[in-house]
Amino acid sequence: MSENIRNSIVPPEVMKKTFEFSEKMRLLNEERRTSLGREMCAYVLTFGCQQNEADSEKIAGMARNMGYKIVDAPEKADLIMVNTCAVREHAEKKALSTIGQFKHLKANNRDLMIGVCGCMVTQEHRREEIKMRYPYVDFIFGTSSLHRFPELLYEKTVKGKRLFCPEENEYLVAEGLGIERESSYRAWVSIMYGCNNFCSYCIVPYVRGRERSRRMEDIVSEVKELARQGYKDITLLGQNVNSYAKDSGLGYDFADLIARLAKIEGDFKLHFMTSHPKDASRKLIDTIAENDKIAKHFHLPMQSGSDAVLREMNRRYDRAQYLETVRYMREKIPDITLTTDIIVGFPGETEEDFEATLEMLRVVKFDMIYSFIYSPRKGTPAADKKDQVTEKVKSERFSRLLELQNAISLSKNEPLVGKTVKVLCDGVSKNNSELYSGRTEGNKIVFFSGEANDEGKYLDIKIDRAEAFALYGNKI
Ligand code: SAH
Ligand code: SF4
Ligand code: F3S
Repeated sequence: MSENIRNSIVPPEVMKKTFEFSEKMRLLNEERRTSLGREMCAYVLTFGCQQNEADSEKIAGMARNMGYKIVDAPEKADLIMVNTCAVREHAEKKALSTIGQFKHLKANNRDLMIGVCGCMVTQEHRREEIKMRYPYVDFIFGTSSLHRFPELLYEKTVKGKRLFCPEENEYLVAEGLGIERESSYRAWVSIMYGCNNFCSYCIVPYVRGRERSRRMEDIVSEVKELARQGYKDITLLGQNVNSYAKDSGLGYDFADLIARLAKIEGDFKLHFMTSHPKDASRKLIDTIAENDKIAKHFHLPMQSGSDAVLREMNRRYDRAQYLETVRYMREKIPDITLTTDIIVGFPGETEEDFEATLEMLRVVKFDMIYSFIYSPRKGTPAADKKDQVTEKVKSERFSRLLELQNAISLSKNEPLVGKTVKVLCDGVSKNNSELYSGRTEGNKIVFFSGEANDEGKYLDIKIDRAEAFALYGNKI
């Protein structure tokens, strides 16, 4: 085993401590259950990206191992965990206001424990803010300290003193924490953590540390187990999956990993996110083309269509390179679904720069875009730039972007009318209880009239109507 990869794993003696604290907490909860005559319950709330959702499943898994039943409402809980995000101001505001709302629950239940973790509280100024302004928060830990959750919870429960776990200097990979998966047919599998790219607008490298990858054999056994349990959609997660294992020096890369995973037996599709365009290699595209088990969907965040802006963002590719990657991808995989992320109103973005982004949308014709208004993040280079775009211009550009993309998305969906698509059913739609919803291999949402036992199954749906953001059809 390479030195690098061994060093990036939380040492066994530290994990042993984690399991000891977990067991102590479990025994304590067993006593409480006997004396209270009811189960101890935990509620986990998640803000942010899929990576955070995957972490929350680990937090829920650890809570379960400590004797908590996972519940779906904070009012029912003896332990509330808030897993926060820092990517935009809106995400932080939402987390803070939600934490604020939990104050009254503490008034009703003096034994209620509230823990806050995740990207927001990995920033010093936010930790201080929680310490000073949210005195009912019992403990905090950042993204490098997930494995310290049982220790913090136990110590706080026994000793009563608030705990603010210091960030580890070194960010590591913890294997073997419990996992309580939300779904029985869609699963997240983190393959790496952190980011080395330092795009100039982005907080992630500061709150998630440097890239470190899990060992291929650990990922293979997790995916094998998921396939055995009948999981249908397995999404591999990392901030830049294309640089998987580059930190390890083991001689394999992301394309090798997915080629290996695609050999695992079972009726499932592999998805992955996110890819950085500078690292989207031909080898990777060929691997996707050659393996049926790999979903024909590529999420390739472009961020901007202007070379000047891309340079200022420190993205390390230009329009021409991006277009070449897309050209090769469509040549090899003609039916690929292509989606992207766009930031509007990056500091210094001129009308011309913005027009260049619109032009790229017209040329590439993404199936879908995820667009964001630039939000200055404390500590990042872009936040200190003098030429910030005004809120008015940002929101005006944002509307124009959406308007254009809506027309493009519709034109991409319309040819599907009359065709039959394979859909993984998610059960009754949250917005319309008359219909069922599901997603295609390319992550397009489809509504149809389904039946009670359809959830978690692949169905063939004949499309009879297309909108920009959804398809409608019937089971055949
Ligand atoms: N690692 C992924 C994305 C992580 S964040 C990648 O590089 O693609 C998800 C998206 O949020 C980014 O792609 C970007 O479009 C957006 N984003 C990140 N920082 C932002 C900021 N400060 N303001 C607005 N959007 C931002
Ligand atoms: Fe942020 Fe860039 Fe890293 Fe993505 S690649 S997480 S946008 S720094
Ligand atoms: Fe947010 Fe952290 Fe993800 S900042 S987007 S939860 S990596």
